[in-house]
Amino acid sequence: MVDDGFFDTVIQNGTIVDGSGEGRFQSDIGIKNNRIQAMGDLSMAKSGRKINAANRIVAPGFIDVHTHDDRVLLAKPTMDMKISQGVTSVIVGNCGISLAPLVADNPPPPLDLIAEPGACRYSTFEQFLKEVEGAPAAVNAAFLVGHSTLRVGTMDSLDRAASLTEIKKMRSLLEEGLTAGAIGFSTGLFYKPAIMAPTEEVIEIASALKAHKARYVTHMRNESDHVIQSLDETFRIGSEARSPVIVSHHKVQGKNNFGRSVETLKHIEDHLHGHHHGIAFDVYPYVASSTVLKEDSIRLSESVLITWSKSRPDLAGRELSDIADELGCDIFSAAAQLQPAGAVYFAMAEEDVQRILSHPNAMIGSDGLPHDEHPHPRLWGTFPRVLGHYCRDLKLFSLEEAIRRMTGYSAETFGLIDRGVLKAGAFADITIFDEDTVLDRATFDKPMTPAAGIDTVMVNGSVVWEQGCATGSRPGHVLRHGGNRPN
Ligand code: ZN
Ligand code: CU
Repeated sequence: MVDDGFFDTVIQNGTIVDGSGEGRFQSDIGIKNNRIQAMGDLSMAKSGRKINAANRIVAPGFIDVHTHDDRVLLAKPTMDMKISQGVTSVIVGNCGISLAPLVADNPPPPLDLIAEPGACRYSTFEQFLKEVEGAPAAVNAAFLVGHSTLRVGTMDSLDRAASLTEIKKMRSLLEEGLTAGAIGFSTGLFYKPAIMAPTEEVIEIASALKAHKARYVTHMRNESDHVIQSLDETFRIGSEARSPVIVSHHKVQGKNNFGRSVETLKHIEDHLHGHHHGIAFDVYPYVASSTVLKEDSIRLSESVLITWSKSRPDLAGRELSDIADELGCDIFSAAAQLQPAGAVYFAMAEEDVQRILSHPNAMIGSDGLPHDEHPHPRLWGTFPRVLGHYCRDLKLFSLEEAIRRMTGYSAETFGLIDRGVLKAGAFADITIFDEDTVLDRATFDKPMTPAAGIDTVMVNGSVVWEQGCATGSRPGHVLRHGGNRPN
């Protein structure tokens, strides 16, 4: 379409990869207010600002579908660790842990990954969404309600199944969240606050999803020896609650299970055909995971790196085995002395990571932990690592396909309207980068190093990142289920 009207911004001469997975093409982009108004040859158009994107890829802003950014949206609203990677929207509240709805002084692990003492002070989900809307971040955010959060707020003891009354209460809290605009329900059945929840409890609560066309997102009970049983549990919850399911950070952990992604992906494919509501999964591009410090996770790992410790903050960034040597004890008693704490676990095979990343149903999600002292590098590196290392250098998939799994497919799966695509009418969430130089620079040693090759990032028509720096602009919207803010 040619339009010679007046635009706020025109992005000129770029190579468009539009998020659909289709091949690239040359086009300018004209932006007015916060949306793309026109694409095509806009060389004659008048505009307030021109951005020259010659020799650059212009893509939809990336959607980080798996985050724990609930509190950081308010605490560090410029969100440098995300916009420096080209991320323009995040989905928060994963793994069963959301900041709301909960009022609690000292929530138990793993809620402490996101909630410092006093941070959980929202008796309704609406209160939390209003607070984020009142103090916008640089990125857009969509929200999940966490099962463990509901359990902590509802039950006097977590080491049992919920009673019928408690289930009813949790379902009505979920309903309140969905009505306020949450896009789904997450569980973390792997973690202590939810490990005693039977499948039936989750189904009962998740039955609130269907009326809202919302989705079930899960950190499964097991991602090692019993990963197939856990997939089956997930599919059952989805079919009984009649909602789409998303398997979080799909992986197979532990030496015994190396190579079993062949089996898990086949299992997912077999169920895709019979599952009427949809199955998808997300993945991060690393062989190490990260969460709170847990004995069972230590057992599965070849090495463990401490990311934070409340009792020994000085030991963040060090190997657990070194710490054990220094303390003159074994790794398990060393771990006990560090609690509460978090860690990075090396317990995956590169072969599995690559196979899962390459699957067409894989979305990219960082699972970054923004409050960790010495975080897993996925927090700052996920998206450029997929584009630079796995796409360009290892050629696992085309750039068009890599971008689809970070944008169009993700927006479709999570119901983010007018996001994840470049076309007239869509919101102007745009990332401009150099496909020859884009690369993650965050490492396990220096995990907070910004990526290379990301030139300009725009959220709702405003530039949030350029020339290697955040502009300080905070145009992010709360992406409420069923639609976005009117303008
Ligand atoms: Zn998780
Ligand atoms: Cu997570």
